[in-house]
Amino acid sequence: MDGLVVRLTQRSRLGDLDLDRLVFGEVFSDHMFAMAWRDGAWRDPEIVPYGPIPIEPGAMTLHYAQMAFEGLKAFVGVDGRVRVFRPDRNARRLRLSCRRMCIPEIDEDDFVAAVTRLVAIDRGWISDRPGHGLYIRPIVFSAESHLEVRPSNAYRFIVMTCPVGAYFRSGDSGLSLKVEDRFARTAPHGGVGEAKTSANYATTFAAGRLARDDGFDQVLWLDGSEHRYVEEAGLMNVFFKLGDRVVTPALNGAILPGVTRESIIALLADRGIAVEEREVAIDEIVGACDGGALEEVFVTGTAAVVLPVGRLNFRQRDLIPRRAGEASLTKSLHDELTGIQYGRIEDRHGWNHPVES
Ligand code: COI
Repeated sequence: MDGLVVRLTQRSRLGDLDLDRLVFGEVFSDHMFAMAWRDGAWRDPEIVPYGPIPIEPGAMTLHYAQMAFEGLKAFVGVDGRVRVFRPDRNARRLRLSCRRMCIPEIDEDDFVAAVTRLVAIDRGWISDRPGHGLYIRPIVFSAESHLEVRPSNAYRFIVMTCPVGAYFRSGDSGLSLKVEDRFARTAPHGGVGEAKTSANYATTFAAGRLARDDGFDQVLWLDGSEHRYVEEAGLMNVFFKLGDRVVTPALNGAILPGVTRESIIALLADRGIAVEEREVAIDEIVGACDGGALEEVFVTGTAAVVLPVGRLNFRQRDLIPRRAGEASLTKSLHDELTGIQYGRIEDRHGWNHPVES
């Protein structure tokens, strides 16, 4: 990347890292990437010690939520090499989220260069324990101090990273999801549901809190118009194995186009299983459960990877998938995907982006 300035920390915090007490998103690695949009261009790219940034109370992002973000991961493979998983897909999605939020787009090659340089510098923060990796969180937000309701004239793009283990600790029983039929995550037909932007997360907190109070891990979102069609599960995309068919809600503009979702669809295609991407009515899932065809439910996401769902609850009624555990499709997809990410299985799609130290 042209003009990148690198200023390394004088005091690494790596010695304080306790891998036995890792909580997702709590500890940040030593450095961050930053650049600024001013006078019509992205400029001044730098990698500097992670730390507070000056921000005026009038910064537009604090008022009008004009922002977008991403989530991706880097892994240390069994061969000791570091790889970032499909950063080009996140670069593209960020560009589309920016377009939707009227934020100047970030060049996809610059995104990948920023991520890989940062990961190379903080590679020591990536643990090789099973299931561990480095979660990479790019954010772009409006930085102009102004209260007029319009797109900002100044932006910041920052990439930070966190050492992570498993996002959920639900054990072998799988996640429990409460099917949400009161609140909506996003609006159908022209909303911002497919953009990765903060508003899509803040709107989920009320329902998420109620679900957790009732003992569930997350909610399963239905469409925002009729509360009839399944959209996504909390922070993840969702798949159903109904007999020998695998179905997932089609990307209808209200659903986040997950990179893990896309990868799982490709891995299933390799096995000769064409995933049905279409409308999935919650009544169909209830019917499949009643008829014994609801074999597996699983969720996918960068943070969560591939996780089984052990229980859905719709209007006080439990829907329990029939199969779980070692022999499940969920487990074999999880093992194949992580096998590719950790370099145990051939990367036949060319998804891994090697990081040179
Ligand atoms: C991810 O899996 O990267 C997500 O976006 C979930 C997250 C907000 C923790």
